[in-house]
Amino acid sequence: MSRRIALVPAAGHGSRFGTATPKQYQLLHGRPLLAHTLDTLCDCAAIARVLLVISPQDEWFDLYRWPQAKLDVLRIGGNSRAQSVANGLAALQADDDDWVLVHDAARCCLSADALQRLIDTVADDAVGGLLAQPVADTVKQGSAAGRVSATVPRDGLWLAQTPQMFRAGLLAEALQDPAHPALTDEASAIERLGHAPRLVAGEAQNFKVTWPGDLALAAAILAARKDNA
Ligand code: C5P
Repeated sequence: MSRRIALVPAAGHGSRFGTATPKQYQLLHGRPLLAHTLDTLCDCAAIARVLLVISPQDEWFDLYRWPQAKLDVLRIGGNSRAQSVANGLAALQADDDDWVLVHDAARCCLSADALQRLIDTVADDAVGGLLAQPVADTVKQGSAAGRVSATVPRDGLWLAQTPQMFRAGLLAEALQDPAHPALTDEASAIERLGHAPRLVAGEAQNFKVTWPGDLALAAAILAARKDNA
């Protein structure tokens, strides 16, 4: 039977965040943001194993306590997200049929419900799929002068989130050229092979912490979830 394995690339520095400590190690309720991300994946009964890929130069991981069950950590991050994922995938030695759920370290507010929805919806899919949200705002294209150059029709536009869930064999084939500039997520690599990944309803709370102001929002979401538990 095929297993489900989560792969978390966490070897980026988060340059847009603008702090000396990478954003995945910023503290939220006294624990690194990354620990909250890993909790959700490790607590999911449908996931057999969680592989965390960090940078060989990482100076922060050993300073903290981490979930023990299911978690493996490898210092094999590359110089792009796609390279970090490709390195993790090679180290996993998964069967071709195993499902791999790639999840951004900085999406620390993924809910157990959204994760389960992805797993259930994609379970019998021939290609695999990802959490995503239909674009709700009007989309503008901007010029270098900081003015609107066009309004882009939003019909049919979705914002890709993670996890992105694909069979290990197909994902390895798709990531054979991880340096390709068009690969900003795993789905785009699968699309380059001619496949159409399934879009599964994500949620606004599953945003990627990117800017310093995002931390307070993530902290509020996690606190509200604890209060309602
Ligand atoms: O920079 P961005 O937020 O788009 O990164 C998405 C995910 O990819 C993050 O979890 C980040 O740590 C990871 N990443 C990585 N190796 C890199 C660059 C980014 O694992 N070289």
